[in-house]
Amino acid sequence: MGPGALAEILEHLPRFEHPDLLVGCGVPDDAGVYRLRPDLALVQTVDFFTPVVDDPYTFGQVAAANALSDIYAMGATPLTAMNLVAFPICVLGVSPLQEILRGGSDKVAEAGAVILGGHSIEDDEPKYGLAVTGIVHPDRIITNRGAKPGDWLVLTKPLGTGVLATALKGGLLDTETEHSLGEAMAALNAGAARAMQRVGVNACTDITGFGLLGHLRELAFNSRVDLEVDAAAVIYLPQARKLAGQGIIPAGTYRNRDALAPYVEVSGTVSAAEQDLLYDPQTSGGLLLAVPETRRESLLAALRQEGISRPGVIGRVLGSGTGKIVIRGV
Ligand code: CO
Ligand code: CO
Ligand code: CO
Repeated sequence: MGPGALAEILEHLPRFEHPDLLVGCGVPDDAGVYRLRPDLALVQTVDFFTPVVDDPYTFGQVAAANALSDIYAMGATPLTAMNLVAFPICVLGVSPLQEILRGGSDKVAEAGAVILGGHSIEDDEPKYGLAVTGIVHPDRIITNRGAKPGDWLVLTKPLGTGVLATALKGGLLDTETEHSLGEAMAALNAGAARAMQRVGVNACTDITGFGLLGHLRELAFNSRVDLEVDAAAVIYLPQARKLAGQGIIPAGTYRNRDALAPYVEVSGTVSAAEQDLLYDPQTSGGLLLAVPETRRESLLAALRQEGISRPGVIGRVLGSGTGKIVIRGV
């Protein structure tokens, strides 16, 4: 959860308290965590959405990578998954759905997990996602509330999936860019998670619907710190800056910006396109890691070893605070 009307409604629901409920709705994080034994906790998350790419197989892969990501963001290992399907079978027939499910299944297999069931309904608009369950040692949970003053902020995937998906819907994307968009979103955050577990980080979250700034805000607020983002250090998908500059901006960007405006300050010059991209809602975005200065270089080396070619050191934790974010330009 995060900014928005839904968060508002959920805030007024009764909150569960239980000695084994380690991460729940009280402090929003990527996934919920429930302790089963002193050395074992269950990690659970669910995510589904409407197609973000035209190719059904790629959509299935992206939806699965996105759902699995919340498990990785907690430092956990995914074990099982269940399909959530809404599909107009009567209109579109079974074959695109088969491709979606094959994409999801291949991605879950790549993660070393298994699909053990699911549920489907007829719906006018296709939707697909998964509920994923993982495990973690209770001492090794990585939340979004542990960032410390002086930590560096590292992002493991480039930004811009919202802008590119919007351009794709408008028929404005060349096939090469469409391919790199699909590839970026379908990439598992498994390698990034292995690297962060090996090296040790203070906090983690993944970048999804609330955009880089929305998820940074959650991390900053929950960690009781203020942050700065170095706009020039942020890495974007090919064409993202150009298309954002042409005004190809998804509605979610404006929603994110309205919700986050009170907490964000721009210092220096940052282009309008870059500012928009910092609010751009991401699908299956990268992990955002807060790492102490002493482990920064070993984290970057570990990420490269895991095949993450361009990890971006995009900012820094300033000091104790109330969750403010400064975007530093030139
Ligand atoms: Co998340
Ligand atoms: Co999620
Ligand atoms: Co059922």
